[in-house]
This record gives sequence, C-alpha cells and structure tokens, in this order.
Amino acid sequence: MSRPNPFHPSAGATPPLLVGREGHLLSFQEALVNGPGDPSLLTFLTGPRGIGKTVMLTHFGHIAQTAGWHLIEDTATPGLLDRISDRVERLLVLERGRTGGTFTGITTGGFGFTRKVSDRIPVPWREHIEELLDILALRDSGLVISIDEIHAIKKDELIQLSAEMQHFIRQSRPIALIMAGLPKAVTDLLNADVSTFLRRANRIELEAVKISDVEAALTQTFAESGVTIDAEDVHLAAQATQGYPFMIQLVGYHVWRGADQDSRLKHDSVVAGINAARLRLGSLVHETSLADLSGVDRSFLLALAHEDGPTSLATLAKALDREVNYVSVYRDRLIKAGMIEAVSYGHIDFALPYLRDYLREHAVYQID
Ligand SMILES: Nc1ncnc2c1ncn2[C@@H]1O[C@H](COP(=O)(O)OP(=O)(O)OP(=O)(O)O)[C@@H](O)[C@H]1O
Ligand SMILES: [Mg+2]
Repeated sequence: MSRPNPFHPSAGATPPLLVGREGHLLSFQEALVNGPGDPSLLTFLTGPRGIGKTVMLTHFGHIAQTAGWHLIEDTATPGLLDRISDRVERLLVLERGRTGGTFTGITTGGFGFTRKVSDRIPVPWREHIEELLDILALRDSGLVISIDEIHAIKKDELIQLSAEMQHFIRQSRPIALIMAGLPKAVTDLLNADVSTFLRRANRIELEAVKISDVEAALTQTFAESGVTIDAEDVHLAAQATQGYPFMIQLVGYHVWRGADQDSRLKHDSVVAGINAARLRLGSLVHETSLADLSGVDRSFLLALAHEDGPTSLATLAKALDREVNYVSVYRDRLIKAGMIEAVSYGHIDFALPYLRDYLREHAVYQID
C-alpha cells in the first residue's frame, strides 16, 4: 500500500492513539490548573519496558505547553543539570524580553537582587529559576521539567535536583518535575539515602491497558487509515496485545501491512501479522529486559516459565532447590524490575506478555 503505516512500534514514538491513559492525563491537566501544592506536579512514572513511560512524558509535556507552561525535556545523561540550567537561562532571556526588559541593561527583580543580563558570570541556577518562575507566576503559568530514564541520574545531581525542588515547592512556586524510569531502578534511587523529599513524590505505576480499549483504538485506527478488517479479526488482534502498549503498536503495524490491494485484511494475514508481532516483541523487548538481569534472576524466571500460570513461591523454591527466604529476595528484585508481578497472596506471574513463551522457546540459550 502506498499509504504510511499509522502504527509506530518504536521506543518513545507517539502512537496514533494513546490507549487507556485518560485518567492520568486528566490528573496532570488538573494539577496545572491547581498550581503549586498539587501533588501531581512532582511525579514519577514507572513501569516495565514498553509500557509507555516515554510516551506519557511526551503527552504530559504537550498538556503543559497547551496550558501555556514552559517545558524543558531531557534524559538523565551526564551534564543534565547544566543543560537544564542553559535552557532556563534562555527562557529567562525570552521572558525578560516579553515583560519589556531590555537586553543591554540591568534587569531588576523586585525580587531582592539585580543582575546584568550581559554578564556571563555563572549565577546559581536557583536564582535563575526563581526569577523565571516569578515572571511566569504573574500570568498563571509555570515551568515543567521532564526527565526520562531518571534512574541514570548521577547521585550528586539527584541530591541537587531534590534540594532545589523542595525549595521551590516550599515557596509555592509554579514548577513541576515529572520523571520516568523502571520501577526497581527508581525505588533503588529513592532508597539510596539521598532524597527523602523525592520519596514522597506522587508515583504512577503504568500498567497494561484494557483489551476493550485496545479493540476500540485498533478499530478506529484501521478505519481512519482506510483499511477494512472484520470485527472478529480486530478482536483477535486486540486479545493478542494483552493490553501491553508496545504490543499494540507491533500488532497494529504487522497486521496493517498484510492488507491486500483493495485495502482488505483477510483472516490469514491477520494471524500472520500477529505472529510477526510476537517475534518482534521477543527481540525488541524480552531480549533487552533479560540482558539487564543476573544469572540467578534468569534461573528464577526459567523456573516460573516451566509453570503454566500463577505460581507459589514454595513451588519455585522447590524447583530451584533453595530456601523460600532465598527465593523471595529474587522475587522482590524481579517485581521491582517489572518482570513479574504478585497476582494473589503468595503467587506470582510474568508482568510482560509472552515472556513465558519466549523463555520456553529460548530456554536452552538462556541457561548458557
Ligand atoms: N497508551 C498507549 N497506547 C498505544 N500505544 C502506546 C501507548 N503507550 C505507549 N505506546 C507505544 O508503545 C511503545 C513503547 O512506548 P514507550 O517507548 O513510551 O515505552 P517505555 O515505557 O518508555 O519503554 P522503555 O522502558 O523501554 O523506555 C511505543 O511504540 C509507543 O508508541
Ligand atoms: Mg522510555
């Protein structure tokens, strides 16, 4: 087909339809209206790989910009605070211009300090941000700082960021900090004894979305792109995603490709598309997630993959020939890593769709 595929199975790529996240988007929108003091203005988004953390940060950013707030978006790679500081400085110049200040002379605060804009003497970023926030507060606006992969932040940068945010929030300034990372990594970061303040931040644990929402979204996206597909086949495709966002895009993408010259999708090509999506999920998500784990973590997952569904810790301990206490340490680690989840008291299961099948298919390779 000559039309572009509407699905985007690529890390961080904005999907044609953001499925099942309306509640979180609304809360953030309300938080901006409420302003300083709203807990959602300091939020961690966590969840397993491919659940849609980066895409949510992007949507939060759009909401902020639509509401007239400034947005600084970055990823926690080295030099993060310097980059934020540079952006703040540029926004400050912009805002001083808007408020009628001149760029050659002296800007006065009315905030207790005076500074020449032309001077390149480094000023602590707290003062820069305070001045920027004071200007923005005058028109009920503010600043949103969005940081992806927050677990990669350096400890000293986290300490500084935490201290600055605590200061601004205590002063009721219009600032928001939204951060995203893997659950275990974020928990470790917060327990690292550096950020009591950030530990109390709002936390959104992103989960799989409802299959009925996926079905509605697939139906709409196929229809809008001019592709005809039977209702039963959309149902099949929606079920195959298990509500996992990355899989929504993979299934959509591979199924969509199977449309014939008349833009029709036959049942066989829908099934073939679903299988292609599953293969891609293995190489794109499962392989990467498993690579982050230790050998014992992987043995634990292999033992779980031998079982057909939710499994008790006692069963796993027996399979691994270890004490329950020993095994429970790995259970906790794997829950934090977003690989498994507690489904009922004492029972656990995989958190990522098709991971069980993937491990079964790749068991020999994984044991090596
Ligand atoms: N709510 C959603 N509805 C539909 N598709 C989504 C949704 N959220 C994310 N996606 C799609 O899922 C894929 C993964 O999203 P994203 O990269 O944001 O995940 P992530 O949690 O940041 O993953 P990682 O931990 O690997 O960085 C993308 O292709 C994106 O378009
Ligand atoms: Mg991401």
